[in-house]
Amino acid sequence: MDTHLINRYRSTHGAEAYADKYNQTWMRRLSNWREHQIVARALAACGRGGRVLNMPSGAGRFGELLKSQGFSVVGCDISLPMLEETGARWPWPLVEGSAFALPFKDRTFDGLFIMRLMHHINDSNERLTLFREAARLTRNWVLITYADYHTPKNLIRETRARWIKDRKPKITLTREQLEREVRSCGLRLERIYTVSPLFTPLALALLRKA
Ligand SMILES: C[S@@+](CC[C@H](N)C(=O)[O-])C[C@H]1O[C@@H](n2cnc3c(N)ncnc32)[C@H](O)[C@@H]1O
Repeated sequence: MDTHLINRYRSTHGAEAYADKYNQTWMRRLSNWREHQIVARALAACGRGGRVLNMPSGAGRFGELLKSQGFSVVGCDISLPMLEETGARWPWPLVEGSAFALPFKDRTFDGLFIMRLMHHINDSNERLTLFREAARLTRNWVLITYADYHTPKNLIRETRARWIKDRKPKITLTREQLEREVRSCGLRLERIYTVSPLFTPLALALLRKA
């Protein structure tokens, strides 16, 4: 992850700002609403109940949905101020830890919920480490977002980055690449839920333990 961004997430000011980010403009409220809609659909396919790791928990944005599915949730994040934001909203056990070396025993959770982390990871070895950690910890499912290369929004961005140079390319994956990589780490791609491909490359993948 970009050093500037991780430092922001790890600061009190940055964590407070993130907690309020999706209330600030109608566009953000709309994208938050749409993400919740997609996550609700995907969670329904994961079944109710069981122990779930919400990592990174950030400010606990999806707490209400996780609660409504009857999950017993553990929150984990690399940032203590972010964990404080989660703790202010949800009575979950909270653990400070890195996605690349999570401090839990094998098969501790029925499912892992990993929102808005992967599109910040630009090192492919780190991405594979994340998939291996997810496969190690889950007994059943992993829900994880990524930025999909083959979305209109991303292709426009790629073109601008190449020709106009007013944008940096996003860290994206193709579905085939995602499928291949998760398979090599002991997971199987079951389904992809697109969010709003015209407006965001963000997509949600439902993975199962292979
Ligand atoms: C964009 S926020 C997403 C938060 C939450 N999942 C959401 O969707 O609202 C990214 C989060 O990743 C956390 N983070 C960054 N690197 C991490 C790592 N290596 N391990 C665990 N958490 C990390 C940050 O502290 C921050 O809370």
